[in-house]
Amino acid sequence: NCENIGGASCTEEQEALVVKSWNLMKKNAGEWGLKFFIKIFEIAPSAQKLFSFLKDSNVPLEQNPKLKPHAKSVFVMTCEAAVQLRKAGKVVIRDSSLKKIGAVHFKYGVVDEHFEVTKYALLETIKEAVGEMWSAEMKNAWSVAYDQLVAAIKTEMKP
Ligand code: HEM
Repeated sequence: NCENIGGASCTEEQEALVVKSWNLMKKNAGEWGLKFFIKIFEIAPSAQKLFSFLKDSNVPLEQNPKLKPHAKSVFVMTCEAAVQLRKAGKVVIRDSSLKKIGAVHFKYGVVDEHFEVTKYALLETIKEAVGEMWSAEMKNAWSVAYDQLVAAIKTEMKP
């Protein structure tokens, strides 16, 4: 349920809120990405075991260079999902990359609870990043885009 402002459609408004907040964060995407994943691991420490590059590493979490790209993928793909929801009414990811992403998450043992914790941490991170710009509508817009993206990924999470 999003409120319509100035006659814009619901999905248009949601896209605008997601894009606006992402534009604000993206210059410091690495930093926010790191905060995002630290939050995930605070809530679910065992999720660290899923990441091969963390499991086999003596580098402290905050300094692991490989964590940032995944964090950024989640931000960017969720933002793109919001754009596609407006343009196409659904999340469109190129078939081959969706298959790859689905297969990778299946292989590493990512389950529903991981996606839930990640959603919570994502929303908390954006809230912190945008400060006063944060609103229930912005939270809802990111939630909708994330849920749809995850639903698309899950369709390809099979052996
Ligand atoms: C890998 C995106 C959620 C764990 C990846 C890759 C992408 C991606 C693009 C690289 C795939 C490749 O190798 O080509 C996403 C998106 C997510 C999401 C868009 C949510 C919308 C999660 C969650 C977890 C997770 C919730 C677990 C907490 C992993 C792991 C890998 C991976 C373990 C493999 C990393 C490695 O190379 O060791 N993800 N991911 N992902 N993701 Fe995610």
